Parts: sequence; structure tokens; C-alpha cells
Amino acid sequence: MRKTIIVSNRLPVKISESNGEYNLQPSEGGLATGLGSIYREGNNIWVGWPGQEISDPKEQETVTKQLRKMNLLPVFLSQDEINNYYEGFSNETLWPVFHYMGVYARYDQGYWDAYYQVNKKFRDIILKIADPGDIIWIHDYQLLLLPGMLRAELPEISIGFFQHIPFPSFELFRLIPWRAEILEGMLGADLMGFHTFDDTRHFLNAVSRILPAQTSANVVSYNDRAIVVETFPMGIDFEKYSKLGSDPEVQKQMERLKENFQQEKLVLSIDRLDYSKGILQRLQAFELLLQLHPEYIGKVVLYMIVVPSRDTVPQYKDLRDEIDKLVGNINARFRTLAWHPIQYFYRSFPIETLSALYNFADICLVTPMRDGMNLVSKEYVASRNNNDGVLILSEMAGASKELIDALIVNPNNIGAITRSIVEAINMPKAEQERRMKAMRTVVAKFNVNHWVKLFMTRLREVNEMQQNMLAR
Ligand code: F6P
Repeated sequence: MRKTIIVSNRLPVKISESNGEYNLQPSEGGLATGLGSIYREGNNIWVGWPGQEISDPKEQETVTKQLRKMNLLPVFLSQDEINNYYEGFSNETLWPVFHYMGVYARYDQGYWDAYYQVNKKFRDIILKIADPGDIIWIHDYQLLLLPGMLRAELPEISIGFFQHIPFPSFELFRLIPWRAEILEGMLGADLMGFHTFDDTRHFLNAVSRILPAQTSANVVSYNDRAIVVETFPMGIDFEKYSKLGSDPEVQKQMERLKENFQQEKLVLSIDRLDYSKGILQRLQAFELLLQLHPEYIGKVVLYMIVVPSRDTVPQYKDLRDEIDKLVGNINARFRTLAWHPIQYFYRSFPIETLSALYNFADICLVTPMRDGMNLVSKEYVASRNNNDGVLILSEMAGASKELIDALIVNPNNIGAITRSIVEAINMPKAEQERRMKAMRTVVAKFNVNHWVKLFMTRLREVNEMQQNMLAR
């Protein structure tokens, strides 16, 4: 029977170790939820890294057995591969360039070699399980070479590729010394997907300027193959966030928030630690708010959650220090005996706590410098069953193309963010409702199941087209 193989750098699993035993829990991430309907079915499978180094062959065997029961197949990475492929080429080269932060990028031959080798490692594992007629859906920037590597071995197999982060303009992308190899790798797919029309356009432009390839509308002709490139904005599990509001644990936590913040407006900010998220600029905008509007002292609180991420990469470590310092300065400058302007947490929280915050916060401030999509903005909207609350959203987030009823800001314009917070604080209920209703319609309709169905349907259609072309 034809099976579907999902591939991503990280498996949808949280792994922890206690008393020499590994404990595996399915993760609740957006992608895992969306693809759950696929990889858990029949003999379908998800291939990826379990998220930490496991070097002992016996331990690898035990973990593999446990994962196989969950339809997951591990690719084990050595510490060296984690350093050079994951932290190195993926997160110190591709991540900054693709997020328009070229100055942070390191172009290191050792990183590239490791990236190439690890993509090959994924290929070899997939070759052991793939049969002709299977569908392979590869995800994200850590595996850009994999479609091409698989295509060379399995010329007729159906391969889809989706990129979850932005694709930069040609002028940025061309900085990468291995730009042609990267595009060749990506073009091993039959169908390529991006979150926004701009990402799609940038990719097509890079292909036509760097490779001897022809592009016509959204089809690339390369090596006697036609590759279809399209836009598929990713959604979230709307129902889950909408229903969570009535969960007893969420209700309990909301009661606690009500007691703690009786007088204040709550401005919510939730991100992974990342320089692409605009956390420092957001803090500056909040500082400016308190400076220009002393009437809000004691009346507004910034509730800021930063989820630890990639903190072994130097720029992330530095960013964490800078956030600590700035939060400390603002709190020291404006606090009163009874009130702290910023409630800052550097850790992750269970989904019930996030839901309580999404339900309780008057304003959600999402101002990344660049973001492929940004699911926090959609989670906030999905949680607002009462149709109130204001979303302030960066025009640099993919989500801003869909959530046009948010207050849209340029994240580099600190004054504009400050003004948006003031506008949000004073926005009449009727206007909040009009905007929120419109956004909820979009997030409910274009949910993650819709996204998966659309991509898979299109991949089947494109594959049929390819087969017909080969038969001619
Ligand atoms: O946004 C891109 C992404 O790879 C997501 O898929 C993932 O949730 C996030 O970045 C964190 O990535 P990681 O912790 O695996 O480096």
C-alpha cells in the first residue's frame, strides 16, 4: 500500500531522561497537530531527529523501538553534527540570511560539509523505507538538499517540500556561497510550498537568476522536469484554541490572572528566544509608552514570555543577556511599590497557561522583524471567543497578509508600535469586535487541516502531471 513519509529535522516528540531511562511524549506543536492525521495512519511514518544526542547503540535501539510504536523513525545525530549541521549551517547561516539578518551569518566550509552529510544521512534512512509510489513530504530549511538527493535515487517518487521560514529576496540569498547547490537540492521536489506570495516570488526569482532554469508563471523547468511552486499559508488548530477557553484548568488560571491584574490592561508577548522576533524593539516601544504616557504607570503591564531556544548559538546567548538587562532597566526605572511594568518569564509554559493568557490579555503584541508565518498571532485570535481584544501585528510576519484587521506595524518603527499600543488601549469595544470577528473567520476557515489537505491534494495532482509528462 502507498504510504506517506513525513520528514523534518525534529520529530514531534519531547524526550526526557530520568534514572537512565528515556521518556517520550508527543509534542503539541502546530505542525505535529496538523500532520497527526497523516503520520499516525496505517504504515505512514515521520522521520526526524529526536532532539538530543543519544550515542550509545543500545540506547538508540531502545529509543527506536519506542518511537516506532508512535510511527516515528529517528535519525540520530552526533554532537559534532548537532554543532555543525543544526546549530551551524541551519541556524548560523541559513536562519539569519533567510530572516534578512545577513550580518549575523557565518559562511563556514565545515558547517556546509556537515549540512551536506546530514542531509545524506536522512536520505539513506529514507531510502531504506521508501517504496515506489510512496509520497514524501519534506519540511523546512534544515533539509534543503534532501529533495535533490532523493530524486537522484528515486526518479519517479512523489516529493513535496514546504518551507516554514521566509525565502529572502535574491540580493540576500545570493550572499550564500552554496546558493546554486541549495536551489538544485530544493528543485528535486515536485511541489514546493511557501507561506506567502512574496516568498514564492523570491524563490522563483532566485532560481531564474542563479540556475540555468526556465520559469514560467509558477512552474520551473529544470533538468527535464517541471516543478510547481505555490503559496500555502499555514493555519492552526482553531477548534483546539477556541475550546480550551472552557477547560476547567484554563478557567482556574484565568481567575488567578483576574485577581492579580484587577486594574491593569495586560499586553501579552510570547516568543521563542530569537533575534528575528523583535523582542528588544518591543521592549523599547513599551519603555517609550511609559515615558511619553505617565498616565499609564500602574495601569498597563507587559506580560512577556520568552521560550528558551538554541541558546548554545552565540547570538541567542547574547540576546538573552540583552533582554535581561533591558527588562531590568525598565522595571527599575518605572516600577512602583505595588506595580511592575514588565512580568518577564524565560521558560516554556503548558498550553493551559498560554490559553488562559490568550483569553485574558487585552492586547497581544506580535512584532517580529521577520517571520515565516507566526502562529502566536493566530492562536490569540482563535482564543478570543468573546470577539474582543486587539492584535498588534508586524507587517514582516507572514500572518499579516491574512490578518489584515490587526493593527499592522513596522517593527523597526518604535514610535509606531508605541502609538499602536495607545490605540489598542483606547479602542472602542465595537471596533475590537468588528476586527476580531473578521480575523476569526479567516483563522477558523484556513486552519491547519485545510493547509495539510490543500498541500497533499496539490502534490497528488502535480505527481499525476509529472507521470503523464514522463509517459509522453
Ligand atoms: O520556525 C521554524 C522552526 O524550525 C519551527 O518549525 C520550529 O518550531 C522552530 O523553528 C524551532 O526550531 P528548533 O527548536 O527545532 O531549532
